[in-house]
Amino acid sequence: STNEPITVQEHQYETDEWTNAPAQILSSVSRRLHLQKDHPITITRKIIESRFPGFKTHNSLFPVVTTYQNFDSLGFQPDHPGRSRTDTYYVNKNTVLRTHTSAHQADVFRANESDGYLISADVYRRDAVDRSHYPIFHQMEAALTWDSNSLNGESLAKRVWEDLEALPKNSIEVLDENPTIHPERNPLQQEHKQEDVEAIAAHLKKSLENVVVEIFARAAESSKSTTNNVTEAPLKVRWVEAYFPFTSPSWELEVFWQDEWLEVLGCGVVKQQLLNNAGVPTRSGWAFGIGLERIAMILFNIPDIRLFWSQDPRFLSQFSESAQPLVSRFVPFSKHPACYKDISFWLRSSSAAGGMVKGTTSDFHENDFMELVRDVCGDLVEDVRLTDEFAHPKSGRRSMCYRINYRSLERTLTNEETNGMHERVRQALVEKMGVELR
Ligand code: PHE
Repeated sequence: STNEPITVQEHQYETDEWTNAPAQILSSVSRRLHLQKDHPITITRKIIESRFPGFKTHNSLFPVVTTYQNFDSLGFQPDHPGRSRTDTYYVNKNTVLRTHTSAHQADVFRANESDGYLISADVYRRDAVDRSHYPIFHQMEAALTWDSNSLNGESLAKRVWEDLEALPKNSIEVLDENPTIHPERNPLQQEHKQEDVEAIAAHLKKSLENVVVEIFARAAESSKSTTNNVTEAPLKVRWVEAYFPFTSPSWELEVFWQDEWLEVLGCGVVKQQLLNNAGVPTRSGWAFGIGLERIAMILFNIPDIRLFWSQDPRFLSQFSESAQPLVSRFVPFSKHPACYKDISFWLRSSSAAGGMVKGTTSDFHENDFMELVRDVCGDLVEDVRLTDEFAHPKSGRRSMCYRINYRSLERTLTNEETNGMHERVRQALVEKMGVELR
C-alpha cells in the first residue's frame, strides 16, 4: 500500500503503519489558542506567567516531536501505556504529536538560556468525548534550576531557602501530610542530598501555592460579582504524592473548589539523569505541568471544553486581556436542545481476529470509537457514553451500546441533520471497525 506523506505547516513527514493522526487534528495545529489575542486560554496563560517574573517563555515550540523527545528523554519505559497508539497520535513510528509540554524539557535544559523557563503549548491525546475532554488541549510547563556547586561558600540548600524567603507570602490553608521523601513511595534520587531536596521541594510548593492564590482568588472574585449568596470560604489546597518518570519525589496539587478536591497540576524534583543527559549536570531543581483548559473553565465558569474552539463572536467577545476586572463569568448564549441516540453493535468475535485490519487491530479500543465519532461529527457531539456491555452466553461475543449526545453549542440541530450524522457514524463503524450493528 502507498503511504501518502503528511504535511504539518511547512514540514513533511513519511507515514507508516503507526500513523493514526487524523487530518482534522492535523489541520487544527495552526490554531494555537494560547497565542490568540483575548482568548480565555491566553488570558489564563498570562495570569500564571505573571507569577514567574524573570522566567524565559517558550510559547511557539512546534507540536510534532520525536518519540525520543516525548518519552525516552523523560525516562518512559519502552512498554509504558502512554506510548500506545490508542492513547497517542503518531505521525509515524518515530514521530508523534506531543502528548505533554514535558517533551521539550530536555531541549530547553540543554539550551541552558535561563535559570527558570515556561513553556505553553498545544498538546494532543486520544481520549473520551465529553464536556471536559478534547483531543487537543493546552499545558504550561515550568522549571527552575540552581547551580548545585556551592557558590561563594553557600550550599545549594542555603541559596534555595534564601530564594524561597523572597517569594510572596500567602495565607492559604495547606494540607501536606506526607514527608517530602518516602523511601518507597516518593524516593530521594541517589544523586541528591536530602537537605537540598527539602529546600527545592519547599520552594516548588510555595511557588505553586502562589499560583493557586492568583487563579482562585480571581475566580472567587468573579463569581461573587454575579452570585449573591456564595459564602467566602478560605482557599484550601492539599499536596498528594504522585509518580512521573522524570521527577522524584513528585506531587499533585489539589484545590478544594465548589465542594470537591480538584487536581490542578503535577510536579516534582527533576531527575538528575535527565539534566545530565541534557548536558547540564551541575544544575538541580523543580518542574511542574498544568493544564490550562481546566483552569480557564474554573476561572471563567466555562461549562464545555468545545467552547474554546468556537469562532462564534458570542463566545469570543466575552473575553478581553484589558478587561477590568480581568476575569468575569462567561454568560452562556442559550442552551440548545440535546438529542440522544443509541448505537449497539457486536464486536468481531476474537476467533475471527486476524491481526491488523486497515489501521485498527481486531481488539476494540474505546478511543478508536470516540475518534470515529469526532471524525464524522466534529464538535457537534457533546458526549459519548457506554450505556451497556455484555457477552453472549454461548458464543462469548461482546456487545456494546453507546449513547451519543448530539448538541451544537451555537445553534439548534435539525432532526434531518442528527439523523444523517448518526447514520454516517453507523456506516463508518461497520467500515472502519468491522463491527456488526444490532
Ligand atoms: N507532563 C506531566 C503531565 O502531563 C506533568 C508534569 C510536568 C509533571 C512536569 C511533573 C513535572 O501529566
